[in-house]
Amino acid sequence: MIKIAVLVSGSGSNLQALIDANLSGQIVGVISNKPEAYALQRAQRAGIATAVIEHKQYPNRESFDAVMHQQLLDWDVDLVILAGFMRILSAGFVQSWQGKMINIHPSLLPHYKGMHTHQRVLRTGDAYHGCTVHYVTAELDAGQALAQGLLRVATHDNESSLAERVHALEHLIYPQVAEWICNGTLVHTPQGVLYRGQPLTEPVQFAKL
Ligand code: GAR
Repeated sequence: MIKIAVLVSGSGSNLQALIDANLSGQIVGVISNKPEAYALQRAQRAGIATAVIEHKQYPNRESFDAVMHQQLLDWDVDLVILAGFMRILSAGFVQSWQGKMINIHPSLLPHYKGMHTHQRVLRTGDAYHGCTVHYVTAELDAGQALAQGLLRVATHDNESSLAERVHALEHLIYPQVAEWICNGTLVHTPQGVLYRGQPLTEPVQFAKL
């Protein structure tokens, strides 16, 4: 059975969706870089081990990442799931977990990498918005996209309504992708990503229009 660690910084609603999905893998631990993250309480309620590794206590990114890396090794983790983890990871750490680490980002990548995605979508006047699950690579929000959730931006949408609607899509697609990895439907190979035995040429689409 695949052993999963989830990295969080905040509320952890995606962590909750992963817990509630009863994945065929096991969430063996949750790491937060913030001691006050509500996600830690969610993990504890579910009986999952937690570790707080505060980035502020380390002189640089590499030393912080080294402690996280050791914790992941101690838990014997196969898959790292970033769920609202708001730290940029060092190239060395990303390299160590290449093909074994996924992230969810609140935009239709490659559009709107980085922060404040809902605000930027509204300012541009886009008709569509959504979220993307992707492998993590050294370049921010640029790893191969595995799945996307798509929604139509309504005229009455504002930042908070969009955030809520995107979150609902995230809670749908993130556990689904995690389960595909756990049960071997989606496999990372040196030759590329296989989905149902075929090369994945574009992200699997989920729409809530
Ligand atoms: C989610 O919307 C996720 O897409 C975003 O943080 C939120 C975490 O919510 N992640 C990023 O912006 C990463 N670049 P949660 O703590 O309730 O799961």
